[in-house]
Amino acid sequence: MYSAGQTKSLQQLGTAFLKKDAKHPITVKEIKELRDVLRFHEYRYYILNDPLISDFEYDQLFKALEKLEEEHPKLITPDSPTQRVSKGLTKEFPAAPHLVPMLSLENSYNDQDLVDWDRRARELAKLDTIEYCVEPKFDGASISLIYENDLLSRGATRGDGVSGDEITTNIKQIRSVPLSARFSDHGIQTIEIRGEVLMTKNNFKKYNDQLAEQNLPPLANPRNAAAGSLRIKDPKEVSRRNLEAFLYNISYHTTLPGKKEDRQLQTHSGCLEMLWELGFRSPVKEKKVLKGIDAVIKYCHQFESMRDDLPYEIDGMVIKVNDVDIQDRLGMTTHHPRWAIAYKFKARQGTSKLRAVEFQVGRTGSITPVAKIDPVPIGGVTVGSISLFNEDVIREKDLKIGDTVLVERAGDVIPYIVKPLAELRTGKEKKIVFPTHCPVCGDKLVKPVDEAVWRCNNINCEAQVVERIIHFTSKDAMDIRGFGDANVRKFFELGFLKDIPGIYTLPFDKIRSLEGFGEKSITNLQGAIETSKQQPLHRLIFALGIRYAGETTAKVLAHAVKHLLEFQDLSLEDLQNLEDVGPKVAGSIHQFFHNWDNIKMLKRLEELGLKLKNDKKDLVAGGNLVGQTFLFTGTLPTLKRSDAEALVESNGGKLLGSVSSKLNYLVVGEDAGSKLEKAKKIPSVKIISEAEFMQMVNR
Ligand code: IVH
Repeated sequence: MYSAGQTKSLQQLGTAFLKKDAKHPITVKEIKELRDVLRFHEYRYYILNDPLISDFEYDQLFKALEKLEEEHPKLITPDSPTQRVSKGLTKEFPAAPHLVPMLSLENSYNDQDLVDWDRRARELAKLDTIEYCVEPKFDGASISLIYENDLLSRGATRGDGVSGDEITTNIKQIRSVPLSARFSDHGIQTIEIRGEVLMTKNNFKKYNDQLAEQNLPPLANPRNAAAGSLRIKDPKEVSRRNLEAFLYNISYHTTLPGKKEDRQLQTHSGCLEMLWELGFRSPVKEKKVLKGIDAVIKYCHQFESMRDDLPYEIDGMVIKVNDVDIQDRLGMTTHHPRWAIAYKFKARQGTSKLRAVEFQVGRTGSITPVAKIDPVPIGGVTVGSISLFNEDVIREKDLKIGDTVLVERAGDVIPYIVKPLAELRTGKEKKIVFPTHCPVCGDKLVKPVDEAVWRCNNINCEAQVVERIIHFTSKDAMDIRGFGDANVRKFFELGFLKDIPGIYTLPFDKIRSLEGFGEKSITNLQGAIETSKQQPLHRLIFALGIRYAGETTAKVLAHAVKHLLEFQDLSLEDLQNLEDVGPKVAGSIHQFFHNWDNIKMLKRLEELGLKLKNDKKDLVAGGNLVGQTFLFTGTLPTLKRSDAEALVESNGGKLLGSVSSKLNYLVVGEDAGSKLEKAKKIPSVKIISEAEFMQMVNR
């Protein structure tokens, strides 16, 4: 897409723009160049996964463009990077008839199926061998995009294959979909391309974590997450979901008057390459052109073994006849093309018997039904317990004790029950009865009007107390290693531990005499408990388990005060003025800090040596990172890139746009690319992890 020369000059142009200030602003004459620079950096980020500038720098350039366009609205073009952003809500998704029906693919499940399919294709095409292009079968939601005269004019869902829903505004929120592409360079006037929208495993997990923070049931798998996201009527929310799109098929095109059809369009692999060169994320790196079915089968197996290492879900491979003329000769049935077939990987599903449903009490009193099934191996893991989240899930799925159930486990996603196999019922299945009273303390359960979850409201319910202590010690909270669920439960049962402050006054003389506690494990546990006293304030806030206050909110809260007990004096309104704190979250925080038992507990923790003060608040002028330069690369395990960058700045550090000898620290995450390679060659650059970076910030 960009030659080495273009890359260099666009990068330099961007750096020059970034150096401009109020005195020497970017001028309106440079508006086109500014857009080119932004598009270039979007491409580096979203298509190549290898950004050359920081998010912060990108935002600066974006804001400069917004400002220029605000001053000169006539100069706005429909494909300007600013035009993805959409204000307001979508009213409806009008019908979008496809230019060519969106067929599905024939499925094959084993090697023999492929051998048979290849034989039939060769017979029909009267050929000895056929050249195939093999690529992943992306497990997402299919879309169609139309570009007319180089501009994205329509995005649509598959619908029933003949007509889908027009979702152009939502498609524009997917940053790897170009708003314009130079199809005209290839003689193309109108083109319809097909592809798949998906959510990476990483983003899916983050999204589910956010749902969990709000006590909402998680989405079952990335496929449902992608499909659901495309139908959201708030484009801003769609943007937040960080969807990606792979484009893999040109289904229709017209040629510009006087132009001949581009030769690249004569093969499927050529089409994929053309799309890639035009700035689309097509599977060029993943695809392989192979002669004969044996090589195809080998490649399918090879890919299946890497399935779990990919950043996104695939459920098989797609094998396509590479030559478009031969494709035309083979044609299609009413359902699927004869020139392509899907090779489905082994399903990560299994069936088992639902034996019982247990009701667990969570740390906030929520009652979660958990299905106990006969253990069944799925994708290498034995599954015996499956959360059912809430009563509605049981009702919607119409589950009964004794049912044979279909269980799915996609990659590292938690297992879930897809459905009961109603055909296999004997009539002896029993209804699942939801308890009316807490299975642990016996209090009457209540269900708030706007919630799907039943609750035990007795905050002294033993189950809740234990769960709160477990949460407090857990990895993402105070991270007291070696404590673990089992020890919390054991110490609680023995009366050694009654509440959270009790963690810091454990009777080690008594624990020493327990079976399984050697001197070494005691020393380690004592050490871990002691170290946890130094955890930063946001971890302590998260550890308290305040409803709706997840890790992100905890960071916002920690930032807002110099001392935790200041929250006693904040009104609901003050709280709602904090970033991302809505009425529900504010209400919960307010309630927590107006409960005398909680305040007493916090005071006790402070006496025991825990940090309730926000050290950083006193240091803003100085900051822990003063005089140091930073750059981030790859996906960080916990922090959002923009949050990490904000941390650098709020702590007095400086962000750099590229690796050079001026750089002090390169913070690397997953899938770090060329920046890491470059940094390794400069001895003065220190390469550190997010955890090491956080230690510097919190020091
Ligand atoms: S080609 C006419 N290629 O699988 C052929 N489809 O069951 C058009 N899919 O509806 C489809 N990855 O949503 C093709 N690399 C790929 C694919 C792919 C996923 C989906 C697509 C289609 C379904 C067929």
